[in-house]
Amino acid sequence: MRPVAVLTLLSLASACANTPSAATEQGSASDTSTGSSGSLTESSSGSPTEATSTGDDGEPLCHGGPWERGQPIAAPELPSGDPAAGYTALLTRDYVSCGIPWDLFGFAEGVLGVEEPLPGRAGKNAEVGHAWNVVTLADDSELVVSNCLQCHAGYFNGELIVGLGKASADFTTSLSEFAEPLPDLPETSLANAAFNKFKARAAALGPYSTMMTVGANPAVMFAIILLSHRDPVTLAWSDEPLYELSAELVLPADPPPWWRVGKKTSNFANGMSRGDHRGTMVLASSLCTDSVEEAGPVVDYFADIQAYLASLEAPTYPFAIDEALAADGAQVFECNCAGCHGTYAKDPAAESFPNLLIPLDLIGTDPSFATQAAAGGFYHHLREWFNASFYGMFSEVVTDDPTPGYTAPPLDGIWATAPYFHNGSVPTIALVLDSAARPGAWRRLDYDSTNFDQAALGWPWQPAPAHAEAPASERKFIYDTTLFGYGNRGHTFGDHLDDAERQALLEYLKTL
Ligand code: HEC
Ligand code: HEC
Repeated sequence: MRPVAVLTLLSLASACANTPSAATEQGSASDTSTGSSGSLTESSSGSPTEATSTGDDGEPLCHGGPWERGQPIAAPELPSGDPAAGYTALLTRDYVSCGIPWDLFGFAEGVLGVEEPLPGRAGKNAEVGHAWNVVTLADDSELVVSNCLQCHAGYFNGELIVGLGKASADFTTSLSEFAEPLPDLPETSLANAAFNKFKARAAALGPYSTMMTVGANPAVMFAIILLSHRDPVTLAWSDEPLYELSAELVLPADPPPWWRVGKKTSNFANGMSRGDHRGTMVLASSLCTDSVEEAGPVVDYFADIQAYLASLEAPTYPFAIDEALAADGAQVFECNCAGCHGTYAKDPAAESFPNLLIPLDLIGTDPSFATQAAAGGFYHHLREWFNASFYGMFSEVVTDDPTPGYTAPPLDGIWATAPYFHNGSVPTIALVLDSAARPGAWRRLDYDSTNFDQAALGWPWQPAPAHAEAPASERKFIYDTTLFGYGNRGHTFGDHLDDAERQALLEYLKTL
C-alpha cells in the first residue's frame, strides 16, 4: 500500500484546512470593518426596545421579552461519574474501535505533518497528535484510533484548547474518494483487520457527508449514515442501508464548546438529546461498534466522560477588557439577552441558566436542521432509530416537543467560539447582534487563531462571491449563506441596539 493513500484516510476527521491563497497578515480590525461596512444600519425588529430604558433609580426596566415564548427543558438525572477518569478514558480508550495500525501511522504522520500532541499524555499517546489514541489489541497488535478531539479541540490565540470546537477542520472532500482506492491489508493482525473496517466505513460515510466549506462539520450526518446501516437492537452492521440516504440533505453543524455541558439540560443545537446523554455521545463515536457486547462497556465508562465534560469551564479572555464599558454592557445584556442566555457572576453559584428551547419562528435562524430532525423530515430517522435502539435505553432523542427550535446556549467563553449559530454562518458576535450587516458570502482571511478581531469578537473575514460565481478551487474557503442549511438570518435581538450599546455589550461578553 502506498503511504500517501493511508494518509489520506487520516482526514476522516482531522484534516486541517489549507491556508487560503488570499490570506493576508493585515490587521484584523480594519479588514473586518471593511467587510461589515453596513454595520451601523439600524433595522426595526420586534425586540423589547423599552427594555434598555432606565427608571428613576437608574436601574434598567426589564419588561419581559421574547424569552417568554421559550420552552424550558427540564434537568435530566445523570449517573455519577469521575471527571478525572473521564479525561483519561477520552484520551486512552478505543470507543472508536477501528483505525490505523501503529506501524503505518508513524509513516503517515511523517508525510502529513505532525499534529500537535497534548501535554501530559503517556507512552505512545504522547507521540501521536492530540486527536488520536494508541491502543493495544488482544493479539498485542497496536492500533491508532481517532478520539473526540478530532472535532472538540480547537485553537484560540495560538493555544490548543480541549473542548473548543475545531473551527478549521476540512470535510469538503468526500471520504469515499480517499477510501475506495485503498487496498485492503492482509488480515494478519487485529490491527490490520481494524484498518480494513475503518476504510470500509469511511467509504460508506463519504458520499453523504461532504461539506461545502472548511469548518462546517458533518457529525450529525455521520450519525444518520451510521445508524442507517445498523440494526437498532443488535447494532449489527448491514452493508445495504436500512433506509435511503440523500446527498441533497447534508447539513452543516458547528461543534459547540464542551464547557457548556455543565449548564445545559439538553444537548445539540435543537436540544434533541434529552436525559442522560451517554447514548447520543456514544452513538456519535460508533463508527465501528457493531455489537451490544462492545457498546455496553463503552456506555458505562462514558458516565465518567460525561462527568468530565460537565466539569469543564470556559477559558478567561486573554486580552484587555475596558471594565467601565463592560459594566454598561452588563445592563444592556440584562434587559435584552439574559432572559434567554442566563445570568453570569464571579461566583458560579450566583449564576442562573434558563435552558430554553426557542421556537423557529421566533429565533429565525436557518430552520433546516430543526425541521429536518422533526417529524416528516429526513433526519427524523435519527429519532425513530435511536429511541428504539440499544442506545435509547440510556438517552432519548426528542425533536419537536413541544416544537422544533434551537436552544439558547450559555455564553460562557463565547468570544472564543466563532463562527456563530448552529451552522457557523456568522463570523463575529458583532454581526450576530446586527442581522442586516451579515455578509451573504464570506471567507476567513486565514485560519491563524492568533489573528482574532477583538473589536467584533470573531475571525477576521472578507466578503466573497457566492459558490456559483467563485472558481472551483476557492469554493471550499467561502461560506455561502444561500446554500441549503447554510443560511445566516434570524436572531434579530440585537438589531435595535445603537452602536454605543452594541460596543458595550461586546465588551461585557468578553467577561463571560
Ligand atoms: C466529526 C466531528 C465530531 C466528533 C468526532 C465528535 N463530535 Fe461531538 N459534536 C460535533 C458537532 C458538529 C456537534 C454539534 C451538533 C449539533 O449541535 O447539532 C457536537 C456536539 C457534541 C455535544 C453537545 C454539546 C452541546 O452543547 O449541545 C457533546 C456533549 C459532544 N459533541 C461530545 C462528543 C464526544 C464525547 C465525542 C467523542 C466520543 C464527540 N463529541 C465526537 C462534532 C463531533
Ligand atoms: C428569545 C431568546 C434569545 C434572545 C432574547 C437572545 N438570544 Fe442569542 N441566541 C438564542 C438562540 C436560540 C440561539 C441559537 C441560534 C442558532 O444557533 O441557530 C442564540 C445564539 C446566540 C449567539 C451565538 C451562539 C453560538 O454559539 O453560536 C450569541 C453570541 C448570542 N445568541 C448572543 C445574544 C445576545 C448578546 C443577546 C442580547 C442582545 C441575545 N443573544 C438575545 C436565543 C436568544
